[in-house]
Amino acid sequence: MSAHGTPIPMTSHRAKPLTGVAEVPGDKSISHRSLILGAMAVGETKISGLLEGEDVLDTAKAMQAFGAEVVNHGGGNWSVFGVGVGGFAEPENVIDCGNSGTGVRLIMGVMATSPIAATFTGDASLNKRPMARVTDPLELFGTKTVGRSGGRLPMTLVGSAEPTPVRYVVPVPSAQVKSAVLLAGLNAPGKTVVIEKEATRDHSERMLAGFGAEITVEDTEEGRVITLTGRPELKPQVIAVPRDPSSAAFPVCAALITPGSDVLVPGIGLNPTRAGLFATLRDMGADLTYENEREEGGEPVADLRAKFSPNMKGIDVPPERAASMIDEYPVLSVVASFATGKTMMTGVKELRVKESDRIDAMARGLRANGVTVDEGDDWWSVEGLGPEGVPGGATCESYLDHRIAMSFMVMGMGAQRPVSVDDGTPIATSFPIFERLMGDLGAQLVRDTA
Ligand code: S3P
Repeated sequence: MSAHGTPIPMTSHRAKPLTGVAEVPGDKSISHRSLILGAMAVGETKISGLLEGEDVLDTAKAMQAFGAEVVNHGGGNWSVFGVGVGGFAEPENVIDCGNSGTGVRLIMGVMATSPIAATFTGDASLNKRPMARVTDPLELFGTKTVGRSGGRLPMTLVGSAEPTPVRYVVPVPSAQVKSAVLLAGLNAPGKTVVIEKEATRDHSERMLAGFGAEITVEDTEEGRVITLTGRPELKPQVIAVPRDPSSAAFPVCAALITPGSDVLVPGIGLNPTRAGLFATLRDMGADLTYENEREEGGEPVADLRAKFSPNMKGIDVPPERAASMIDEYPVLSVVASFATGKTMMTGVKELRVKESDRIDAMARGLRANGVTVDEGDDWWSVEGLGPEGVPGGATCESYLDHRIAMSFMVMGMGAQRPVSVDDGTPIATSFPIFERLMGDLGAQLVRDTA
């Protein structure tokens, strides 16, 4: 099944050496937040480098539905004319967030403390994902929520007319949950406190501070304590979205496993809460270097150079690194197949509730392509077959999950035989230029149209 009409099967044939410059699109997490906080400010927020993937475009439409004016100037340049904290209008229609967990959870948060109702839905993947992790804390503000069994979409929220600020310890490592509570706290008078035991991506905290909110972060014995003072007047910003490390992961990993490759991936955001994959690849012995390290818009940035790395070794990936690379385990498991020895990934239960059950989806596809995978509830391991040892040859299901589809396309670049996915259309949710960009580097990606 496809969320995007007819499924388009895709095949990745063994690639020529991948060479050149891979300019990946803007960061998905920062793009969603730019639109949402822009809608909460009074006046014009100017955004450049916005990711124009389906997930983010759905968030742009949602911000319009709540009353903000969103203008696309072309070339990744956008303006948002915000309505101010507490200024949301009630949408006329159902809010469709497509495939995006980040979109729906953050938007639920930001509308939950306004006296309006909204109904949310998504595609078949999103409508299976757990929303109680967000609606539980939102109910503490006085918000009413009614969804399907298991806390699933479609779901209606009636925002609280008299929100009370909350103190909430996030029970799972999730930046989406943390952000939903902080965004709800924007329109609650007083101090909303969110405590996370493990640090997750901190773009919401950085951006709230950038828009002029009073927000403090303290590392304590209880965890990371974030305190936000409600009802600020947010000031519009000029935002240059850095390129997405989670998208950079694909050309980087493809270069590491494809003989003769040397690829430069410039301008990648290396916020420490996001850069776990690159540290892990280097621990495995990957020839991956950071060039021209600098700071842009408050985020650390570097150009990444990745070269074919025939001597990578399997490792135990430190579980405390999981949150900083949670979206990268699928493509890491592909690289692990081309390393020597076992790669063990622990503390990764959250992978089971992403756009798909990513452990299950990858384990099935890797096994079909000749790789041995073991798994438990919150761990999995991959037996590496060495740089020339991955058979390939199978068709994998992508389960409406962009990162599963792209991971198997990467696998085909270094495998002995081609690797296919049943549907490549989900790739457009986060990386709409993937095929062209990888093709320009030397990948052989073919759409298998009947
Ligand atoms: C995101 C948080 C992560 C991540 C997702 C983007 C965000 O999800 O997987 O792709 O932008 O806050 P969780 O909060 O569920 O870990």
